[in-house]
Amino acid sequence: MLPMKIDAGVLGTGFYVPDRVLTNHDLEKMVDTSDAWIVERTGIHERRLAPDKTPVSELAFQAAQRALADAGTSPEELDLIILATLTADCVCPSAACVLQDRLGAKRAAAFDLSAACSGFVYASSVAAQFIATGTYRRVLVIGAETLSKYVNWEDRNTCVLFGDGAGAAVYGPVEEGYGIRAFDLGSDGSGADLLGIPASGSRHMITEEIIRKRLNRIHMSGREVFRFAVRVMPATLLRSLERAGLGPADIDWFIPHQANIRIIQAAAKRLAIPPEKFIINIGKYGNVSAASIPMALAEAAGDGRFRKGDIVALAGFGAGLTWASCIMKWAKED
Ligand code: UT7
Repeated sequence: MLPMKIDAGVLGTGFYVPDRVLTNHDLEKMVDTSDAWIVERTGIHERRLAPDKTPVSELAFQAAQRALADAGTSPEELDLIILATLTADCVCPSAACVLQDRLGAKRAAAFDLSAACSGFVYASSVAAQFIATGTYRRVLVIGAETLSKYVNWEDRNTCVLFGDGAGAAVYGPVEEGYGIRAFDLGSDGSGADLLGIPASGSRHMITEEIIRKRLNRIHMSGREVFRFAVRVMPATLLRSLERAGLGPADIDWFIPHQANIRIIQAAAKRLAIPPEKFIINIGKYGNVSAASIPMALAEAAGDGRFRKGDIVALAGFGAGLTWASCIMKWAKED
């Protein structure tokens, strides 16, 4: 890990979800499922869906504007925009460039980052490197998804899980000893087939057969991903904590990736972190991949839950396979 010279922390946060709510009862009319099964097995009650013609850059724009206002930062001040997403507007150009233009962030470099549900933590760690070296002073990091456009609405194994939304944070230099204290990133591409959208890039051209087989939709081996998640989330968090010279008992707030309440409960048990320290919004929004963690971060920050000096831990896992965690000492005044 690079030695950090300038500490980088969150200056402001914001999140946005589309208005349309899809409840478990709505899903009961679409596939062979029940509200009771979904709540018991996942913790999800409802999720948000973006309109058909709304691209992910639009959700990102709404969240970004809120984060910029919260940080007191103008778009012109931004040096860099990193948009973590697996549902970009298109393969090329990046959704980050669309967002850069919409915001009027004229000085900013912009790129998308692909690390699925770990994307926001990956992107935050990239932002911290540029700030640590003094290269950039204002970096906008967003996790945004329109997963509803890639869900197979006939597959009950996956269609009940995912939702749409965006969360954003503005990072910049903070007081010494505050901000991101440590992080841990990892990947294991041998698990690539366990979760993904098989025909969404250069491997398979879209043909009638691809569409018939729904290979342009999300496919997941749920049980295997579940086992991976339960193992990797505590492991990555412990590595970050160790690098920060801390232990689980030092955590004031833990924001896990919101994929399944049972995965979160298993991590809580393994790490002995009390439930009141968890920030959980899966019930309202489902699994929003790269947006899950920043939406929860922005929601909790917006509620005034964090105090300056609080230890806030983030941990995610997802397709790739990937995982990521980071430990922050909250730098923002109440
Ligand atoms: O963010 C990316 C990472 N993704 C994840 O972390 C997801 C990880 N996986 C999971 O969260 C869980 O594996 C699921 C929620 C996807 C599935 O829960 P599960 O408890 O592992 O269920 P299962 O796959 O073992 O299936 C149990 C039964 C099956 O029926 P049979 O074969 O036992 O008759 C499924 O067909 O539940 C059935 N089932 C459903 N029943 C009603 C699967 N989905 C549904 C459903 N409604 N929506």
